[in-house]
Amino acid sequence: MANVLITTEFFPEEVDRLRAAGHEVTVHEGPTLSPEELRERVRDVEGLICLLADRIDEEILARAARLRVVANLGVGVDNIDLSAATKRGIMVANTPDALTETTADLGWALLMAAARRVGEADRDLRAHGFPGWTFLPQHAGLDVHGGTLGIVGMGRIGAAVARRARGFSMRILYNSRTEKRDVEAELGARRAPLDELLSESDFVVLCVPLTSETRHLIGKRELELLGPEGVLVNISRGPVVDEDALVRALREGRLRAAALDVFEEEPQVHPGLLDLPHVVLTPHIGSATLATRHRMAAVSVDAVLAALSGGRPKYLVAPGEAES
Ligand code: NAP
Ligand code: GLV
Repeated sequence: MANVLITTEFFPEEVDRLRAAGHEVTVHEGPTLSPEELRERVRDVEGLICLLADRIDEEILARAARLRVVANLGVGVDNIDLSAATKRGIMVANTPDALTETTADLGWALLMAAARRVGEADRDLRAHGFPGWTFLPQHAGLDVHGGTLGIVGMGRIGAAVARRARGFSMRILYNSRTEKRDVEAELGARRAPLDELLSESDFVVLCVPLTSETRHLIGKRELELLGPEGVLVNISRGPVVDEDALVRALREGRLRAAALDVFEEEPQVHPGLLDLPHVVLTPHIGSATLATRHRMAAVSVDAVLAALSGGRPKYLVAPGEAES
């Protein structure tokens, strides 16, 4: 029997699976725990199922003397100090695959909304009514079909975004650390250096993890390369984009539009973004369908059950064994 803390409201049937295995489960249902609260709550737990908003750093891990496994409800693990976990022999698991297609769907929803000014047109109609069909349109957008799509980070989600572009007859460029021969063969995508991708793409979708290399990967210079007709979509992590530079580029007409699901200082949103009509903003809902959230819950429970019974979770991002 082990103690398991789940830091968020959860599917009862998934809690039951942990209890059926004999574990004592605590589900925190209020607002996200503060770092101080989390430090207190992890003292006696062996298993932790946590949110991307929970910062699992050295200090938290130091308090969690009995902790054996952390299962993050998401694929990005930039909220967790993986090397500190490894040093302490704590396994860290995440939930890839379960959310890939759902997140790619949202990437496309944002791309289409930004290109065709859906949010702006909707807001104008509600505020001012429908003035009648005009030939020279008030909300003239950009054609998506036949354009060039640049994908930064051709991993699981990047490839799923790219696959959807086939239906729009798009040319696909990508930038990734390694060559993706399978995606090139399947989709005719071409790998390009980041600068070339930005200069040649009409639409750029960011699908990289947040790392020291990708923090502010897109700043003033990169936005200049994308240019005044370019559209930027961020479904990765907020700090991949320098938001100050983005707001300035949009204000000064140096970028056509942007669509963001993620923000530099979540849950805060840069006030400059809120004033701009040609920005689509969603509150980090990439994986937010009930079916997908259910799959993610099941994957995280599987990970905790495996680790607490002496096995290895399927999706392990830190092995739980100190490197020699
Ligand atoms: P993944 O399969 O690991 O793909 C990430 C890709 O980024 C990999 O192909 C990797 O290249 C590439 N990459 C890493 N560093 C790079 C760099 N410096 N320059 C260029 N490419 C780089 O991960 P995924 O499942 O697609 O998820 C990607 C990210 O999306 C997550 O880490 C998370 O932050 C974000 N996400 C957001 C939401 C949301 O709700 N908005 C939902 C899910 C995920 P290599 O393959 O060559 O290593
Ligand atoms: C969501 O942002 C995730 O990383 O799964």
